Amino acid sequence: MELNLKGKTAFITGAAHGQGRATALGLAKEGVNIAAFDIAKQLSYPQYKFGSEDELQTLKVECEKLGVKCLLHKGDVRVDEDIQKAVNATKDAFGKIDILFNNAGICAYGLTHELEESAWDNMLDINLKGAWMVGRRIIPIMIEQRGGVIINNSSVLGLRGANRLSHYVASKWGLTGLTKAWAIELAQYNIRVVSLHPTGVNTPMNDGLAAMEGMTPKEIGERSAGNLINVPWVETEDVANAVVFLASDSARYVTGSEFILDAGLLTR
Ligand SMILES: NC(=O)c1ccc[n+]([C@@H]2O[C@H](COP(=O)([O-])OP(=O)(O)OC[C@H]3O[C@@H](n4cnc5c(N)ncnc54)[C@H](O)[C@@H]3O)[C@@H](O)[C@H]2O)c1
Repeated sequence: MELNLKGKTAFITGAAHGQGRATALGLAKEGVNIAAFDIAKQLSYPQYKFGSEDELQTLKVECEKLGVKCLLHKGDVRVDEDIQKAVNATKDAFGKIDILFNNAGICAYGLTHELEESAWDNMLDINLKGAWMVGRRIIPIMIEQRGGVIINNSSVLGLRGANRLSHYVASKWGLTGLTKAWAIELAQYNIRVVSLHPTGVNTPMNDGLAAMEGMTPKEIGERSAGNLINVPWVETEDVANAVVFLASDSARYVTGSEFILDAGLLTR
């Protein structure tokens, strides 16, 4: 398989832990330099563990052990100043940005008529508007270089509904649509855009949601997923492998589409 990733640059949001971190390492193994962007502090909503500065530091060490560079950016995908600073520093250091993994996101339960307006706004602002905020600063670089790949981390919930997750589901369907619109706008510049739709993934988000529900991660995985293959979740490495493929030349004609990594869930 022709990957042709060596020497490329990837900008990854939500990179401190979970899927973003595993993907940074998966790309680093293929010789990709990493710009790791994460809020790296706790927010009051949702009340589970966010990424930390320590995790960013250890990611850098692990990337360097794999022989690539890793720039760390502490910032919020809702804050343009943070994004511009990180994007400019990445461009200065590597001269280009070939891959954007729009991955930062939050999740929390709540019946739609009981949600606070702030919960709705946080969910949509981080999961959907955040992807646009980052994209709009990186797309001009990709247009100038006449090439790039953007992968938006949606969810199986960007392709179906779910109970007590209306704000999350709305944000994730939003990413599915954003992907299609960007694919149309950007194909002329040789920029591909794909949405990724994992079932439950074994990450701190999953652990945190389970704890908030008073369940074990396995119980919550089984309740929410209903995968056809008998696993409660997929691993972060499965997501990383998907992104490595989608970012590579082997996926050169994949754009505008949904890449489903669901252990068969949506087939039920
Ligand atoms: N875990 C799952 O079961 C699952 C399934 C499908 C899709 N997803 C999606 O995959 C993505 C990654 O999820 P995960 O499971 O790795 O989550 P996670 O909570 O384990 O990690 C998310 C990372 O994003 C960072 N982050 C959160 N808000 C941010 C902000 N405003 N700005 C910058 N960084 C921010 C966090 O600090 C954290 O390091 C999310 O978009 C999530 O919705 C998750």
